[in-house]
Amino acid sequence: MSLWDDLKMQHAAKSGRSLAEMFENEQRFADFSAGFGDMLFDYSKTHIGPDTLSLLLELARNAEVEARREAMFTGAEINETEGRAVLHTALRAPEGPIHVDGEDVMEEVLATRKRMAKFARAVREGDVEGQGGSYTDVVNIGIGGSDLGPAMATLALAPYHDGPRVHYVSNVDGAHIHDTLKGLDPTRTLVIVASKTFTTIETMTNAQTARDWMAEKVDEPGAQFAALSTAADLTAQFGIDPDRVFGFADWVGGRYSLWGPIGLGIMLAVGPEDFDDFLAGGHAMDTHFREADLADNLPVLLALVGIWHNQICGYATRAVLPYDQRLSRLPAYLQQLEMESNGKRVTMEGDDLEVNSGPVVWGEPGTNGQHAFYQLIHQGTRVVPCEFMIAAEGHEPDLAHHHRLLVANCLAQSEALMRGRALEEARALMEAKGLKGHELDRQARHRVFPGNRPSTTLIYPKLTPHVLGQIIALYEHRVFVEGVILGINSFDQWGVELGKELAKSLEPVLRGEDPGTGKDASTRGLVAYYRSRN
Ligand code: F6P
Repeated sequence: MSLWDDLKMQHAAKSGRSLAEMFENEQRFADFSAGFGDMLFDYSKTHIGPDTLSLLLELARNAEVEARREAMFTGAEINETEGRAVLHTALRAPEGPIHVDGEDVMEEVLATRKRMAKFARAVREGDVEGQGGSYTDVVNIGIGGSDLGPAMATLALAPYHDGPRVHYVSNVDGAHIHDTLKGLDPTRTLVIVASKTFTTIETMTNAQTARDWMAEKVDEPGAQFAALSTAADLTAQFGIDPDRVFGFADWVGGRYSLWGPIGLGIMLAVGPEDFDDFLAGGHAMDTHFREADLADNLPVLLALVGIWHNQICGYATRAVLPYDQRLSRLPAYLQQLEMESNGKRVTMEGDDLEVNSGPVVWGEPGTNGQHAFYQLIHQGTRVVPCEFMIAAEGHEPDLAHHHRLLVANCLAQSEALMRGRALEEARALMEAKGLKGHELDRQARHRVFPGNRPSTTLIYPKLTPHVLGQIIALYEHRVFVEGVILGINSFDQWGVELGKELAKSLEPVLRGEDPGTGKDASTRGLVAYYRSRN
């Protein structure tokens, strides 16, 4: 019998066991929480007990997580389907050497980081300016990893934002660029085209539109553009001065790229010093992940909880619930990080996966989510493992009473999910309100909370650049560990290609230049509707 089967048996055996009872063991919180630096990860409100944890750790060891981890950090070609190393950790390393194919890559990484800082400082201090004066606005045009990470981090670091306003445009829907550019002064706007490949249709279409907008008022629009890309030839073709092009290597995956040039928008917003702090936080998590024993290793523990809930217990989704308004884009960022990385149906060898692939990740910041979808989380028929996140301290000392309430809400939700409310309790409440007989029974049943629902909580001191860096790196490594345990390649994304190809072939059909004869009746019908109105 495999370890997977053993774990599934554990789940079956324990499914009736109540979390509340598990807390009769006073040691439970101490045994099932782990820290790194000031950060604390509490997974005691899950059904993982000592036996389950040792099986899960064995699963990780059998999958050779430690060896794969070392292979990643040392530049081995672990992205086997694309023949690439995976070295985003080098982007946040303070120094080298780190070798890929026998060459130290850190020289280039550090030189680019320095060039970015010089450029960011010049923009922030007004030494580099647009035709109409110093830059008031920056528009970052990118999508997927070239948007979600920097957009999420720029918002997260709002208290540190003292540079120009930074806007992010991603969608090819003209509404996005239209609404963003509306009201901006083209003579004082810097446009960053962020695209690893510099071929992504959404980004290139938006970049062209931004250039046309700029050209109406600016004599040399190319001079107010910068590019973040691995494709120096294509950025040159687009007319961007090589001095304003910040390159990176193909061993940086799109969804792992905010630590390098793709993070320029963050750096422009908060400044190179705070950006360095963000990198240092990421690097601190790297060191912890690389050196800590698996049993005390935060990314490994998060991954094991994830595997337990998704592949063993069969809970298909995972809610990420930051009680931190400035992390409101974190769930969207994690959707790409986790679902593009681990949404795979075959193993590295191309065999069918024998367990489910990674979970559907979703979420919203608390407390907003409480007034929207928590109803289902508490009383729906499906179990949704919840991941709560909260800072011990906010950035607004004058509003400490808000923060206390925020924390109280966060802790209350995990407590409520675990404890629930039994029928007797609900009946007592209804009785106290004077209800009797059938009406009492009926109303009481609506007020029952099954409880026994799992959640984890990550608590950190304050959302500083350093802490944000730790959180992002924590999630990156968690995804990596889950991928290794599943035996998949977390670093390719072939699943996005088919739709892209079909969109390309449909464009001429929509224009009426291609009859679209090969298309199915549904697609033809929808095209006909579109054409009848255009
Ligand atoms: O959606 C697929 C994808 O390749 C992502 O992995 C990537 O982050 C995004 O497109 C954008 O790619 P690029 O940075 O090359 O424009």
